[in-house]
Amino acid sequence: MVNERDDASETPDIDPGLHWRIKDSFVKYVLRGAGGAYSVTDGADDDGAGTFFFPFASASRGDGGWVLSFGGDVRFSGHHGALFVPFTEPVIRLGETGGTLAIRRTVPEGSPADTERIVIAELTGEVPQRLGDALAWPAVTAQLTPAGVSLLGDAYPVGTLMDPLRMLIPAQ
Ligand code: HEM
Repeated sequence: MVNERDDASETPDIDPGLHWRIKDSFVKYVLRGAGGAYSVTDGADDDGAGTFFFPFASASRGDGGWVLSFGGDVRFSGHHGALFVPFTEPVIRLGETGGTLAIRRTVPEGSPADTERIVIAELTGEVPQRLGDALAWPAVTAQLTPAGVSLLGDAYPVGTLMDPLRMLIPAQ
C-alpha cells in the first residue's frame, strides 16, 4: 500500500490541523440571510477570510488508512435560535479508496452533553503528500451523508459537495 507521496521538501508555514471553509454558501447564508453568527472555541479559529481551523490532536494509520483527530468547536446560530449547527472535534478516516468525516454531536448550551459521533460526509480517497516535516492532504472532496443533510436543516440533497478539506499533520 502506498502511504504517502514525496512531493516537496519544504514544511508549509501553516499550523497542523484541519483548514476548512465548511461550506461557503452556508456560512454566507447564516451571516447574511439568517441574521446569525458563529463562534470558534476550544482551540478552533478562523482566518477572517472564511477558512476555519481545527487544531491537530492525533493521528494513527491502520489497514483502512489514516484516522486523523482534530480539536476545536465551530458553531453557527441564527433565526433567533432556530438554527444551531455545530462542527465539533472532527475525526477523519481516510484511505486510498475513500473515507468519512465525523463530528461530535453537540447540543445547545445548557442541555446535557451528547458525545455520540455522526458521520456527516463521505470523502474521496487520497494519500498524503510529504512536505518537509509534515504530511498534507491539500484538497479532499467531501459529500454530505443523510446525517450531514439533517445537520444542515435538510436544505441540500445527499451527496452535495462541502468545501474541500485541507489537512496538515506532523510527519508520523
Ligand atoms: C426560522 C427558520 C428558517 C427560515 C425562515 C429559513 C429560511 C431560509 C431561506 C429563505 C433560505 C434561502 C435563502 C438563501 O439562499 O439565502 C434558506 C436556506 C438555507 N437554510 Fe434556512 N431557514 C430557517 C431555518 C434553518 C435551519 C434551522 C437550518 C439548519 C439547521 C437552515 C439551513 C439552511 C441552509 C443550509 C440553507 C442553504 C444555504 C445555501 O447554501 O445557500 N435553515 N433558509
